[in-house]
Amino acid sequence: MKLVILEDHTKASEWAAKYIRNQIVQFNPGPGRYFTLGLPTGSTPLGSYKKLIEYYKNGDLSFRYVKTFNMDEYVDILAENTHILDGNAPDLEAECNAFEEKIKAAGGIDLFFGGIGPDGHIAFNEPGSSLVSRTRVKTLAMDTILANARFFNGDLTKVPTMALTVGVGTIMDAREVLILITGAHKSLALYKAIEDGVNHMWTVSALQQHPKTLFVCDEDATLELRVKTVQYFKGLLHVHNKLVEPLYSMKQNGAVKEAACYF
Ligand code: PGA
Repeated sequence: MKLVILEDHTKASEWAAKYIRNQIVQFNPGPGRYFTLGLPTGSTPLGSYKKLIEYYKNGDLSFRYVKTFNMDEYVDILAENTHILDGNAPDLEAECNAFEEKIKAAGGIDLFFGGIGPDGHIAFNEPGSSLVSRTRVKTLAMDTILANARFFNGDLTKVPTMALTVGVGTIMDAREVLILITGAHKSLALYKAIEDGVNHMWTVSALQQHPKTLFVCDEDATLELRVKTVQYFKGLLHVHNKLVEPLYSMKQNGAVKEAACYF
């Protein structure tokens, strides 16, 4: 597991976007060789999405040969390459099973980009979810309903109480997981994810058993971590920064180095 601690939400979002960009460019996607990306909703990833759109507009990154499994459409991704769970499907169980099958057919997820809730949920795997769960219908916890009311003009009665979500097991099957966590309200969840044991009441903690997880957070999210932990990972920042420096571009053939200008 890696933990990258940056000053604030903007810097953390940019770092995550650079990481995604480098992973896609270095994969060298093309016809018959798709990069498969899991994408989250919520407000946390918006800053990273903005950067990815910027890279796309500059011609540094193309999503032509990228498949996504997510709940939102995205930049220039071809409609046939996006996979979105349909909460209005007549048979929700069949919809969830089909989603799992589509992931399998795509060869699995290369990089799962996610956020977490203040209660430590990953995707909508609320406290108590099975750590081997698959895509399914979940009842949302009151904490999540309260947190999401902001997307519904603060009207609790308008927030759905059920959701379709990939399972913890689905996420654990991804070859790599990148989690972006910002804000003091997520600090207890980050502590549970990193310093406490694997526990189904904090489903993000399952990632302790994933072979390749990268947490990117801001200073505020580290408030519940031990000073020793924070200093340890800050001491490794120069090593972790090599993942985004140099920053690769698709502008020329193959993975071409671009001047690194992170700090
Ligand atoms: P947020 O949601 O990014 O809007 O905080 C994250 C989540 O609930 O998983």
